[in-house]
Amino acid sequence: MAMDKVYEAYAAARPKSLEYLARACKVLGGKAGHDLRYSTPVPLYIDRGEAGRKWDVDGNEYIDFLLGNGALLLGHAPAEVVEAINETVGKGTHFGNDHRLHIEWAELVQQLVPSAERVRFVNSGTEATLLALRLARAFTGRKKTLRFAGHFHGWHDDVVHGFQPPFDQQGSLGVPSHDHMVCIPAGDLNLVEETLKTVGDFAAVIVEPSGASWGRVPLDPEFLRGLEQLTRQREELLIFDEVVTGFRYSPGGAQGLYGLNPDLSCFAKVVAGGMPGGAVVGRADVMKLFDVTGDPQHDRFGRVVHQGTFNGAPLCAAAGVAVLKQVATGEPIARANALAAKLRAAWDQVLGEMGVAGYLYGVCSIFHVYFETDRDRVQAATSRAELYTNDADRLKGMPGALVESYQRQLRFHGVDNMSSTGGLLSAAHTDRDIEEATVAFRQTVEGLLASGQVLSL
Ligand SMILES: Cc1ncc(COP(=O)(O)O)c(C=O)c1O
Repeated sequence: MAMDKVYEAYAAARPKSLEYLARACKVLGGKAGHDLRYSTPVPLYIDRGEAGRKWDVDGNEYIDFLLGNGALLLGHAPAEVVEAINETVGKGTHFGNDHRLHIEWAELVQQLVPSAERVRFVNSGTEATLLALRLARAFTGRKKTLRFAGHFHGWHDDVVHGFQPPFDQQGSLGVPSHDHMVCIPAGDLNLVEETLKTVGDFAAVIVEPSGASWGRVPLDPEFLRGLEQLTRQREELLIFDEVVTGFRYSPGGAQGLYGLNPDLSCFAKVVAGGMPGGAVVGRADVMKLFDVTGDPQHDRFGRVVHQGTFNGAPLCAAAGVAVLKQVATGEPIARANALAAKLRAAWDQVLGEMGVAGYLYGVCSIFHVYFETDRDRVQAATSRAELYTNDADRLKGMPGALVESYQRQLRFHGVDNMSSTGGLLSAAHTDRDIEEATVAFRQTVEGLLASGQVLSL
């Protein structure tokens, strides 16, 4: 179907959503609740979800690879989590005191994550990286953090730059100078060592162990191993941002999968079972900085301050405990991984059959699609394999219009993905979901080919 026809038909199938949009424009800053939620001609307004699917307010059905921005390893409304929340909610939603589920939640995190000697809960991934960086600076007495181009660590002032190209430009208006954050390309250990030595005063190195944006720019685990050795020798703290990989790559996250032991790690999403929540975990000697000792001098000047009304709140803890008990069995991760492998193979086959200049990639329960739009590279390539790249500017720099069109068409055909051209699988998806999503993907790619937005090999 021609591009403008998809646009029109998409809007026509969403009359109630258009009404919601009209209301949202009058009340919501930026017309939506998150930078990635607004889209044209009309955003999704979801009414309900079940397992691997969700339905919008107009009754349109979607196979869901967004999964609450990656939070829903068990899919929508899993019985264990719903029951745990129901059991808890009647006793009061929040006390501002600690409680049994808070400790049980922390114990499960400690059992599952090799490096989690101590656990401190926060309310999001952004809060987790904010706190981990503060801890690292406090522990080392140094100011700077080394981070990698393209890696996403949330939206607070320290990290909002550097994740979208051009990586050396400002991340957002309104952010004060961030000279204490040094950003270099990922993957080159010599460059890391050189930078740590010559720039100096580094408290920490922070990395998404999947590679930038949950693996959109893949990273060799050997680079992570090198980072671990290097920072250990030099006594900077290594921080793994496991907000997406945590309890998804393995029950112990990416560090569990690769056998690594970062000093601090940040979790959110899966850890809280679909409720708001996150955690900073790591070395007991570093986490000791939270301790209150009763010595007024120490308690006022010798520790890391961390408050937060809803830290470890009962409903989040209940959901977190329920999901982590499932994660501990290994079954949900194995199932989601197997489904993602099927999807990657099926969608890559579609691209191969259609002769499109692009490919599928990803590990564990994650998939990404890359469309090569550089005509020179396409002309020079004799096979799709020759298009493989690890270049962050390319992988994160697909034309915005192409990505937008891809997302809209995919939704039009009944599939919602996470961001850019990637998505995640849950244990609740089914083979039927993969089959139907593959039909939708083929239709989407046909549309993109017809409009000349993707290239043929
Ligand atoms: C790797 C990573 N770190 C941090 C964050 C921020 O988490 P939150 O959205 O919970 O603030 C995200 C969010 O997607 C993420 O993917």
